[in-house]
Amino acid sequence: MIKKCLFPAAGYGTRFLPATKAMPKEVMPIVDKPLIQFGVEEALAAGMHEIAMVTGRGKRALEDHFDVSYELEHQISGTDKENRLADIRRLMEECTFSYTRQKEMLGLGHAILTGELLVGAEPFGVILADDLCDGANGEGVMAQLAKIYKKYRCSVVAIEEVPQNEVYKYGVIAGSQIEDGLYMISDMVEKPAPEEAPSNLAIIGRYILTPDIFDILRETPAGKGGELQITDALMLQAKRNMVLAYKFKGERFDCGSMEGFVAATNHYYQRMKDSE
Ligand code: UTP
Repeated sequence: MIKKCLFPAAGYGTRFLPATKAMPKEVMPIVDKPLIQFGVEEALAAGMHEIAMVTGRGKRALEDHFDVSYELEHQISGTDKENRLADIRRLMEECTFSYTRQKEMLGLGHAILTGELLVGAEPFGVILADDLCDGANGEGVMAQLAKIYKKYRCSVVAIEEVPQNEVYKYGVIAGSQIEDGLYMISDMVEKPAPEEAPSNLAIIGRYILTPDIFDILRETPAGKGGELQITDALMLQAKRNMVLAYKFKGERFDCGSMEGFVAATNHYYQRMKDSE
């Protein structure tokens, strides 16, 4: 039902320097698959096959990854290595890809607003590829959010319980529970100090947004860190309409941090070994 998925991928990935000096953090691999490919697979599994990416300088590798590599493909054609490209070929066949650049890093909200040209006036998914999610029972987190959108037709964010001493890294919500694990948001704070946090329910990098978010983003002032925060815009949307938060089923790895990246690598390496 929702066809488009936006990938804000313009950030510098400074926590991974020097690895990210010349390489986007979104193409860093977990075992043998770049983070961005996991994200696109999750979008497609939710029926979103129009992929839109907000990139920036030094991010060409993202576009190249979803394009044909003639020399390489000619080289391995007919060998047993060919099937290593089967998954990415399927994505290239089933999805369309469009790109735009965020010229200045003015925050996630600004990156999403930059994607308006690619998204248009339709509801859309947002995936932050550095939050790698392994949905429970093979159901991706975006597919879980899409089900909720279908029922309620409003913006939905994925949330996770985090330890109280880690709330400062996230947008944190408060709300009333309307179904098991589903909250109607009444308050939201970006990167709160532990004593200011309204709960320990943290927003992770998966959203479904209705297109009125673009007008709201345009009128949202810069927030924490002088950046245009999607959390602030969502709070306005929640006041005017309704925004839901869903405690997704599955596991998330914060691959923008070293610990999360290593944990994800171990998780998927073990899965690969188990399936051999
Ligand atoms: P992060 O702050 O986690 O990513 O932004 P970063 O800036 O790349 O990483 P560090 O902190 O320097 O290591 C969360 C997501 O939002 C995107 C990033 O690409 C990342 O996927 N983002 C953030 C943008 O696209 N534009 C922005 O202006 C800010």
